[in-house]
Amino acid sequence: MTSRIIGTGHCVPDTVITNDALSKVVDTSDEWIRSRTGIGCRRVVKEETTSYMAYMAAKKALISANIEAEDIDFIIVATSTPDTIFPNTATCVQKLLNNKKAVCFDLNAACSGFVYALNVAHSHIVAGLAKKVLVIGSESMSKVIDWKDRGTCVLFGDGAGATVVVEDNSGFLHTVVGSDGSKGDAIICDGHSSNSFYGHKEKEHPFTQMNGQDVFTFAVKKVPEIITQVLQEKNINAEDIHWYILHQANERIINSVAKRLKVPMEKFPMNLEHYGNTSAASIPILLDEMNQKGMLKKGQKIIISGFGAGLTWGATLLTW
Ligand code: UT7
Repeated sequence: MTSRIIGTGHCVPDTVITNDALSKVVDTSDEWIRSRTGIGCRRVVKEETTSYMAYMAAKKALISANIEAEDIDFIIVATSTPDTIFPNTATCVQKLLNNKKAVCFDLNAACSGFVYALNVAHSHIVAGLAKKVLVIGSESMSKVIDWKDRGTCVLFGDGAGATVVVEDNSGFLHTVVGSDGSKGDAIICDGHSSNSFYGHKEKEHPFTQMNGQDVFTFAVKKVPEIITQVLQEKNINAEDIHWYILHQANERIINSVAKRLKVPMEKFPMNLEHYGNTSAASIPILLDEMNQKGMLKKGQKIIISGFGAGLTWGATLLTW
């Protein structure tokens, strides 16, 4: 017994911010952003919220899976940008779906969140704790970005992607996940919260701060390493994988991973040009776009891999 993704959906906010529009706010240019990252524009929430986008993506995933919302028994939302600290995003999705029986919680593993959440869903199914699961990645990164910091504000975007995961005989094959808390300073957002017991002092740096080069170096080394480990442990060759669906952070990272694995770039689909880095949402958004275009065919072998703050990482081998 294993688990399988049988439905996908996504939702992105209506507002589009182009690189040219950003260059009017900070000292940057379309040329710099495109050549260093591959990003052309990003979506940014206005009226939308993390839970609303998660709900919309989930609704579409349920339709694609042909499953009723009331039959879902577990909802897990990977997010670092919930609307509220509590209730969690998953219970907000449950309420909007009018579902009564699901166990609901959020998981924060930053940009690795979707890979971690899929792993948790799979483990619940295999342990007999759940049968029909919504695994969602949803982020409003624009709320935790300093729009005056050109080093970070050009990179991120908002959106949500969802999958329906059920028990099956084939699907989820193997995974490698990990974390290194000692490198947590490489990308950090310490939030707005302060302890009112000691007075209402604002945090000095409430927004995301990142050492871009450290994260870049980590990603181009760690991602090929864990993908190779997953393949070796299942005795599968890199060329037998149809698609490598990586977290959409930077085109240069994806290029470098492909080169290190000696796999042609055609097997590394990308949509970061349109959305930027949507953190935990990037993999399920891309999965849904590929699914809608008919690119995912039954029996294909797929690797998904995420990496990000924590530091955290994960790679999972699936059969579609
Ligand atoms: O999901 C995981 C989260 N994060 C990531 O994946 C990020 C990984 N890192 C990266 O993608 C890259 O490191 C960045 C895209 C963030 C930066 O690219 P880089 O090639 O490492 O640039 P850099 O930080 O070395 O900066 C080069 C120059 C600097 O100017 P000087 O010191 O050479 O004069 C920066 O001040 O580019 C400057 N710069 C910019 N210029 C125009 C930094 N940001 C910008 C900008 N526009 N937006």
